[in-house]
Amino acid sequence: MGSPKKAASGPTMAEQADRHELYQASVQNSEFEIDFMDATFEELVGRKAISMREDFCGTAISSVEWIKRRRGNTAVSVDNDPEVLDWGRQRNLAPLSNDQRKRIELIEADVRDVKTDKVDMIQAYNFSYWFFQERKMLLDYFKSLRESLVDDGLLFLDIFGGSECYQTQKEKRKVDGFKYVWDQYEFNAITYELKCAIHFHFPDKSKMKNAFTYTWRVWGARELREILADAGFSETIIYRQEFDDETDEALDEYVATEEADDFACWLGYLVARP
Ligand SMILES: C[S@@+](CC[C@H](N)C(=O)[O-])C[C@H]1O[C@@H](n2cnc3c(N)ncnc32)[C@H](O)[C@@H]1O
Repeated sequence: MGSPKKAASGPTMAEQADRHELYQASVQNSEFEIDFMDATFEELVGRKAISMREDFCGTAISSVEWIKRRRGNTAVSVDNDPEVLDWGRQRNLAPLSNDQRKRIELIEADVRDVKTDKVDMIQAYNFSYWFFQERKMLLDYFKSLRESLVDDGLLFLDIFGGSECYQTQKEKRKVDGFKYVWDQYEFNAITYELKCAIHFHFPDKSKMKNAFTYTWRVWGARELREILADAGFSETIIYRQEFDDETDEALDEYVATEEADDFACWLGYLVARP
């Protein structure tokens, strides 16, 4: 007994693991995301949302959570990678009832080109719009989102800020059965281009390196609000994650605010009205 060791032969834990399963378990909390969107929409708009579009949907787990939430809810989920969409179809959509499956549509397309019916809510999460590094490209994307929302719809983006955005760093976190490693391995202080990767480490000491890699531009909250305004959004609200006063730990609580100290890292949602 004792600590787990690498088996003398046979595949390692990393070789047997499925990167999308690990990603869903370590990065995503679709139940929380949908709780936040559902409650915020009702509070700001005064009715319940029905239709949602999920951009950069990956395995579409958030859309699945949405259509399960209420009979009648619908989702359109867009990603340009057929491999991850297939995974989502087999693992997240297949277990649904026929009625639920009819209310979700997966579209393989670039989010900048796709044309969808107008929806109540659009989400673009995990900072994926940071793939768009040129202002004009981001502006055009935001304009297309504005056109894809009903008049009283809402756009939900996530955002992070603080000094840690502008530096290389590694952060490790224990998850059930493995370790999640967030690796900001290159930052260009002129272009604000940030290269990051997700690695997974296992108890048998095996590693899945570069399970996911991203090249982003770090966008600031203020400039994003300006670009959203230029794209025709009338108002943006920042919901910043709260910290425990005593332990300084991040809480699952987001409050609308214009205030933020010089945090090393803060997470938030940016909610925009057409
Ligand atoms: C970080 S994952 C986001 C998954 C999920 N939305 C989340 O919140 O964790 C980014 C996804 O965006 C997709 N993607 C990247 N560029 C895209 C584009 N221009 N159009 C559509 N999908 C894109 C990738 O294939 C990948 O599945």
